[in-house]
Amino acid sequence: DGKIPHTFVVFGASGDLAKKKIYPTLWWLYRDDLLPKPTKICGYARSKMSIEKLRSNCDAYMKVQPGEQAKYDEFWSLNSYVAGAYDGRTGYELLNQQLEQMENHCKANRIFYLALPPSVYDLVTLNIKNICMSRNGWNRVIVEKPFGRDDVTSKALSDHLASLFDEEQLYRIDHYLGKEMVQNLMTIRFGNKILSSTWNRENIASVQITFKEPFGTQGRGGYFDEFGIIRDVMQNHLIQILSLVAMEKPVSCHPDDIRDEKVKVLKSIPALELSDMVLGQYVGNPDGTTEDARTGYLEDPTVTSTSTTPTFAMAVMKINNERWQGVPFILRCGKALNERKAEVRIQYQDVPGDIFEGNTKRNELVIRVQPGEALYFKMMTKSPGITFDIEETELDLTYEHRYKDSYLPDAYERLILDVFCGSQMHFVRSDELREAWRIFTPILHKIEQEHTKPLPYVYGSRGPKEADRKCEEANFRYYGSYKWHGSKSS
Ligand code: BG6
Repeated sequence: DGKIPHTFVVFGASGDLAKKKIYPTLWWLYRDDLLPKPTKICGYARSKMSIEKLRSNCDAYMKVQPGEQAKYDEFWSLNSYVAGAYDGRTGYELLNQQLEQMENHCKANRIFYLALPPSVYDLVTLNIKNICMSRNGWNRVIVEKPFGRDDVTSKALSDHLASLFDEEQLYRIDHYLGKEMVQNLMTIRFGNKILSSTWNRENIASVQITFKEPFGTQGRGGYFDEFGIIRDVMQNHLIQILSLVAMEKPVSCHPDDIRDEKVKVLKSIPALELSDMVLGQYVGNPDGTTEDARTGYLEDPTVTSTSTTPTFAMAVMKINNERWQGVPFILRCGKALNERKAEVRIQYQDVPGDIFEGNTKRNELVIRVQPGEALYFKMMTKSPGITFDIEETELDLTYEHRYKDSYLPDAYERLILDVFCGSQMHFVRSDELREAWRIFTPILHKIEQEHTKPLPYVYGSRGPKEADRKCEEANFRYYGSYKWHGSKSS
């Protein structure tokens, strides 16, 4: 784009997402000289606010280091803010005037970030289209989940957006696609003969994709209670990881070739049934050391006291294609569990024709997304020394050891930069979204209609016991004999 200026517009600039994620990300990109020059930023929200106030809202999240103060001041000098309503035209007209002025009435590209509650999406996008588009530069719109709450509402939103923008202008964020190890999945799979040859039903027993958080709803109960863990994490973050783990090799690394394959694999997955799932809801731990740990989900004042919203969910998914038929994909996610962890665990089958008296354990390839990025391969080895015993060990690629000096940018940094560059590789296309909703909508409706009661589990535990049993049924073996000591941060 040469020297064409960019203008980044943050809708919902006074809100939580903006101060915790969007402004900090923009600042880190600016700090590291990654933003194209010149880029200016304009916030928009209902409350009247000065730039000083906006800045002080964000300060706590910006992680400004000693010595960066001058650059930090410089960053804020590129910022403007316009207060206006989300309905009516006036606010948007003011905003557009402000943008034109910031762009010196010259050609400029515009990025619109919707850090907004979904209730105003329709109105805001319509007004962007009618009033705020750059007339001679390009326009790109970034949207965040929730993309509806089921197939019908999501389709309504997709249709609305499609009536205003081309798919090439829409950037649907799933921030898990911005994480280092999620981005690495393609390389691991398609850049290694040893893995690409064994990545199939002939060799793999089961695949487990896990997301755990050690805290509860933490003041987000109002939002969470309406959506639940299936919509909050499983239908987006975990299903995105699944599609990268299971898809066929794309024709090239072109974003549409990749997304074509992701859609295909999703199409091979039948809609879930409740018998494929275990649902849980956390209760307080009376011995908990913090107030949070003693507070059960239903005691959160922002949650309905009779809520049946799951805070834990496990689903065993089937992929009915030639590569995966019969290999269970176990998706597991929950809040208020025993640890923070996101990982993919590929468990290989037992070695046929055992000569070690049943002492071999299955190989596992573990792709650890966070914390402490790592890739390790669990394997059997002869115990060292004058013995013929065998034991489990690992081939270990822990990033903090192997790549000590590499800076791993935050997911949002990569994704926002991708938008500037026009790369949609790590964004969700509308047909992926449609397929994801097709898989989950029937059980979501059923849970709501029948008020399916989730199983209680104690805050800080591993989740409901039934989930472990279901994993066992789904051909996942847990031996309990091995502990990985990979990373300090884990
Ligand atoms: C968000 C969910 O999408 O992802 C949150 O809404 C969750 O509930 C968060 O806490 C987890 O993201 P990360 O990057 O901290 O693993």
